[in-house]
Amino acid sequence: MPVAVGHHVVAVHLELLRLAADEQQRSPRVKHRHQRDGLLRLPEAKRLPSVHGAEWAPPPHHGCGDRKGDPNPRPCARVSLHLPVLLGTVRPERKSEWVARHVVDRLAKRPGVTSGLVDPAALPFGNLELREWEMDPRPPEVAAFVEDMARADGFVVVTPEYNFGYPGALKNLLDALYDEWNRKPFALVGVGGISGGLRAIDNLRQVVSGLGAVTVPTHVPVTFVGKSFTPEGPLDAEEWDRRFVKLFEELEWYATALQRARSESPPS
Ligand SMILES: Cc1cc2nc3c(=O)[nH]c(=O)nc-3n(C[C@H](O)[C@H](O)[C@H](O)COP(=O)(O)O)c2cc1C
Repeated sequence: MPVAVGHHVVAVHLELLRLAADEQQRSPRVKHRHQRDGLLRLPEAKRLPSVHGAEWAPPPHHGCGDRKGDPNPRPCARVSLHLPVLLGTVRPERKSEWVARHVVDRLAKRPGVTSGLVDPAALPFGNLELREWEMDPRPPEVAAFVEDMARADGFVVVTPEYNFGYPGALKNLLDALYDEWNRKPFALVGVGGISGGLRAIDNLRQVVSGLGAVTVPTHVPVTFVGKSFTPEGPLDAEEWDRRFVKLFEELEWYATALQRARSESPPS
C-alpha cells in the first residue's frame, strides 16, 4: 500500500530526527553550547561572533579589485580583524614572550586590527584534564579566553622549539577548544637555536589541520632569540618589521577571506 509505506517512511524519518536531536542534547559540548549565550550551535548565531557585525569588503593590500593606476578606484572599506597571539610555553624564563609581545604590538598598530597576548601560564589547561566545555563551573578566565578566541578571525602562534617539537603547554591550550579555532587561519612564528624553531613550526602545521583550521604559507623563524631580542623587543626593529610584514599581510588576507566564507556558510 503506497500510503502506508509513505507513512512508514515519514515515521522512520521522524524517529531518526528525534534520535539525532537526543544525541545532540546528550553531548556535553553541545549541551554546554546550548547553555552559553551567543555561541549556540545555530547557523544564524554562529555568524555573529566572527564577523563583528561588519560588512565584508576586500582587504586593502589587494586594491579592492582595482588595477594599479585605475582613474576611478572603488572605495575600499576594510573589515575589522581580531588576531590574538598565542604564546607556546609556560617556562618562567621564556624568551619567546619577548617575541610574542613584539608581535602583539606590531599587529595592534595595523589598520583595522586588534590583538592581545594569550598566555597559557594564566590558564588552567596544564595537563588537559578537562576541555573548556567539560568544565562545570567554568572559571572566569576560561570563559573570557573562550569568548576572545570565538570572536577572533585568526591567530599568530609564537612558539619555542623544545627537543625538535613544540611544547606540551601549547598542545594542551589548543586541545582545550575546537570550534573557536575551526576554519580560521594560523600564522606560525618559531623561536629556537640555529633552526629558529622550524621543526616546531612543521609539527604544528599538522596539529592545526587536526583542528579543522589552516596555516598560512609564510612562517617566521627567530634564530638565537637571545642575540636578536631583549625583553623590550628586537635589537633591529626595522629588520624584524620587514620579516613580519609578509606574515601579517598573509594572515589578514586569509582571515578576511575565511571571515566572509564562515558568515556565508557557517561550519557545521
Ligand atoms: C627543554 C628545552 C628543549 C629545547 N630544545 C631545543 C631544540 O630542540 N631546538 C632549539 O633550537 N632550541 C631548543 N631549546 C632552546 C630554546 O629554543 C631556547 O630556550 C629559546 O630561548 C626559546 O625558548 P624559551 O621561550 O623557553 O626561552 C630548548 C630549550 C628547552 C628549555
